[in-house]
Amino acid sequence: MTAELDAIAQKMVADGKGILAADESSGTIKKRFDAIGVESTEENRRDYRELMFRSEAMTKYISGVILYEETIRQKAKDGTPLVSLIEQAGSIPGIKVDAGAKPQPAFPGETITEGLDGLAGRLKDYYDLGARFAKWRAVIDIDTAKGIPSYGSIRANAHALARYAALCQEAGIVPIVEPEVLMDGSHDIDTCYQVTEWVLKTTFEELYYQRIRLEGMVLKPNMIVPGKKAAKQASVEEVAEKTVRVLKSCVPSAVPGIAFLSGGQSDEDATAHLDAMVKLGGLPWKLTYSYGRALQAAPQKAWAGKAENVAKAQAAFTHRAHMNSLAALGQWSSEEERKAA
Ligand code: 13P
Repeated sequence: MTAELDAIAQKMVADGKGILAADESSGTIKKRFDAIGVESTEENRRDYRELMFRSEAMTKYISGVILYEETIRQKAKDGTPLVSLIEQAGSIPGIKVDAGAKPQPAFPGETITEGLDGLAGRLKDYYDLGARFAKWRAVIDIDTAKGIPSYGSIRANAHALARYAALCQEAGIVPIVEPEVLMDGSHDIDTCYQVTEWVLKTTFEELYYQRIRLEGMVLKPNMIVPGKKAAKQASVEEVAEKTVRVLKSCVPSAVPGIAFLSGGQSDEDATAHLDAMVKLGGLPWKLTYSYGRALQAAPQKAWAGKAENVAKAQAAFTHRAHMNSLAALGQWSSEEERKAA
């Protein structure tokens, strides 16, 4: 079992490949579809995801896809299970298993991610449906004036991540451990650094207490960036240097790979930051992408719910995935971006 877990984790972070986060909940995908004027019906959600899974990007640049409950059971228009499309492309199906971040009792303004009850049984079902990895996202907000985040919230979220990871590994499923420090707000980059350091230290402590096999997991963290509303934004070099520094001080080298979330960065920022980190070199783990918005904003816009736009949307998705693949190899440049566009 452990050899299989390790092999899956390594495949998820294979050279020049990264993960597509296509696990938007029904509420989130509705928001994305609203923005492009598309009604969020089961069929539209299927058509949209099917176009991505049938694109050239899948065979070349996408090691795995995080699916939502609905999608892992859905069939393509021609009746092929969507999971089979992913497998046929040589990519690994994965599944979001948390039940979302809910208000944490006694911690106003903070959340605790739910979904541990009954998880062992659900993981068995997902394994039978083809899932070989899973995702659980903890959400940490920063509001220093209100004392947020608090010790109690970070500790509870890290503990839940570790309990989830243990259940996954028991089921032969690689856990993506995602403690996301949000970039909402006006805090500066050093506050993001300090909070992320605290969150990662606590998370790895809980992973240790729950006896997680580090070789059989993938970490999905935020990058170290200032809040979106911060007066002072940061250069690509500063983000890269600070992100690598915090990861080196918190993430054991037994972890095979780190796949970042994009968190609301622009498409090109998410790519440039990853590229700059890989170019720093001397890293003990692989660095790659596990982007949702930064991979899908362009294809969503190109598609706009119209069948005649499918090829255009697939090209837009493949382009973004290609740029991020180059970044994961430290071979991206803004010239590549223009050349391929
Ligand atoms: P973003 O890249 O849009 O942040 O999404 C990644 C993800 O899976 C968040 O849980």
